[in-house]
Amino acid sequence: MIVTTRELFDVAYGRFAAGAYNINNMEQARGLFEGHRRADAPFIVQLSRGARKYAGVRMLEAILRAVEEEYPELVFAVHLDHGDEESCYDAIDSGFYSSVMIDASHEPFEENVAITRRVVERAHAAGVSVEAELGMLGGVEEDIQVDEKHAQLTDPAEAETFVKETGCDSLAVAIGTSHGAYKFTGSQGIHFDRVEEIQRRLPGFPLVMHGSSSVPKEEVERINAAGGALDPSAKGVDEDEFARAVPLGVTKVNIDTDGRLVWTRVHREHFRDHPENFDFRAPGKVFVDEYARFIQHKAEKLQSEGVLDEVRTALRGGDG
Ligand code: G3H
Ligand code: 13P
Ligand code: ZN
Repeated sequence: MIVTTRELFDVAYGRFAAGAYNINNMEQARGLFEGHRRADAPFIVQLSRGARKYAGVRMLEAILRAVEEEYPELVFAVHLDHGDEESCYDAIDSGFYSSVMIDASHEPFEENVAITRRVVERAHAAGVSVEAELGMLGGVEEDIQVDEKHAQLTDPAEAETFVKETGCDSLAVAIGTSHGAYKFTGSQGIHFDRVEEIQRRLPGFPLVMHGSSSVPKEEVERINAAGGALDPSAKGVDEDEFARAVPLGVTKVNIDTDGRLVWTRVHREHFRDHPENFDFRAPGKVFVDEYARFIQHKAEKLQSEGVLDEVRTALRGGDG
């Protein structure tokens, strides 16, 4: 069942985070749904502009409609990840998306406000909710001055003004994470003090954590042992920190890179161990199961495991 992102956030806030996973193909979709069936957890499917270009907008919609039929008991939202104005309007008009992200965080504050406001107006008229972004992810280095280091992190006072002025429904905050496999060096980590201050200024308002892959060392080592050449210093978010972020209002946690690592490991190992094989369905089948196991594990860390009954009850209006 596709629900609105807002409905999901209302149940989740402060209790668990909805994992938000990017999909590009049928195998990822199957693994994602199977993993959440095993975990008994709600979730968010994210479609990036890159995915829409790769697979095609209609193909992604068809894959999701089909997998939804295979798993009718599941509860999920469909979200446009890192949209620009054009893709947001396209997603809103399609009637298929629960929410869109307008990412104008690279623009000056006033421009970000203006763009986000335009998208909010059009989205809300169609019953679609909007995630916006303030601050910039990535490039935060340990060895630069504190002020500079914090320059890209979300400013809590600005966040309060931004939400008031735009009417957005959730906010992606820059709190030290970045996209991809190389997030941290040394003792770097999530800036929880920032999250706390943002929550203090925006109580009850859902915050979104991008760049939340954990980039397991073992996964990188297995990929490299099977012919890969990933930098072994790759490092991500400590997934045990999700439990600390949830009570601070982090309600949506974006994970893509970790799933790509599972895909790469499974396929590299398969073709290393079976060099005679050229039937891609054999590793494809292994991938779906491995991805499902990975998803179930993430749901446990996000504290969304086992909450599906409660979510369904809340969606029915609490009638039990
Ligand atoms: O943050 C971006 C996501 O990892 C999606 O990546 O744009 O390559 O599909 P993509
Ligand atoms: P990762 O690269 O850490 O998986 O982040 C994904 C993301 O933020 C998608 O919007
Ligand atoms: Zn992102």
